[in-house]
Amino acid sequence: MKHFVIVAILVVLCTFLVYYGLVSLGLLPQQASLQAVSIDKLFNVHLWLISFLFSLIVGILIYSLVVFRRRKGETGDGVYIEGNTRLEVLWTLIPLGAVIFLAYIGAMSLAEVQRIDPSAMVVKVIGGQWFWKFQYPDYGFSSDKLYLPVNRQVDLQMTSQDVIHSFWVPEFRVKQDLVPGRTTDLRITPTRIGQYKVSCAELCGASHAYMEGAVNIVSQEDFDKWVTEQKSAAPVDPVLRGQQLAQQYGCANCHSTDGSAKNGPTWKGIADSTVPLSDGSSVIADNTYLTTSIVNPNFQIVSGFPANVMPSFANTLDQTEVEALVAYIQSLK
Ligand code: CUA
Repeated sequence: MKHFVIVAILVVLCTFLVYYGLVSLGLLPQQASLQAVSIDKLFNVHLWLISFLFSLIVGILIYSLVVFRRRKGETGDGVYIEGNTRLEVLWTLIPLGAVIFLAYIGAMSLAEVQRIDPSAMVVKVIGGQWFWKFQYPDYGFSSDKLYLPVNRQVDLQMTSQDVIHSFWVPEFRVKQDLVPGRTTDLRITPTRIGQYKVSCAELCGASHAYMEGAVNIVSQEDFDKWVTEQKSAAPVDPVLRGQQLAQQYGCANCHSTDGSAKNGPTWKGIADSTVPLSDGSSVIADNTYLTTSIVNPNFQIVSGFPANVMPSFANTLDQTEVEALVAYIQSLK
């Protein structure tokens, strides 16, 4: 009995030490969303459990090694013990209870994290190799930065234009995949004004590690100001805009602008030229051809290039962006 009391005291002390030691390491990034509160509560329960189990096992182990070690002159065998029904029932029931408890608090947290606020603002998120694009359907513009007003739920409706990507801002805790051909939802209520970074959390090709975007959480006034700025932005020269878009959306990865060979046909001199197609026919690269090649790239395949390599940009670029790209291609004589 004496041993049990001593070990129990040691385990309790060690549990507190390990727990506060782990917490002081600052394992979690800043908490910046309402959803993060429920997730962090779960982390906290697990930290306590980890600390307790570690202390229980290591405490009993070290105590036994020290107190029940073989002393000088002791040569006999240890006591022979065969089974202990009460202990076996206990070490089955306690973990069973623990697992049911964890499943329960996990399900409650999931419900809390997915709770729908009817006044949520909708932002459409498009991921691609390798960019993030955020469309604001309520305001009619899009941006490569995510601006959100603080303390208002946002419904991020996400899709991918090529492979699977994953939207992840560690400070918000929650994470969601972007799947081509499907719309997935993620709800976030930012609670802290500041600048964050969205990373892609799904291996999506050579530049996966650099697929990052700026996330700005601002006050409602600053958000309104930003919206006005975006809407009243001076119209830019379409050729310049097209050049920016070609960089932003990775066109330049496959299409050269100086005639050199890449995975796709070069853009130099393509406008108004006669393009041979893989079915033996040919087409004049006019406005219609260039536009179709961006929104429906497999409709006409250029001779010598494989089909199904280029994804469609129909849902990624809006009409003015497609027009700007075509203008840029047409400027590359
Ligand atoms: Cu997109 Cu990794």
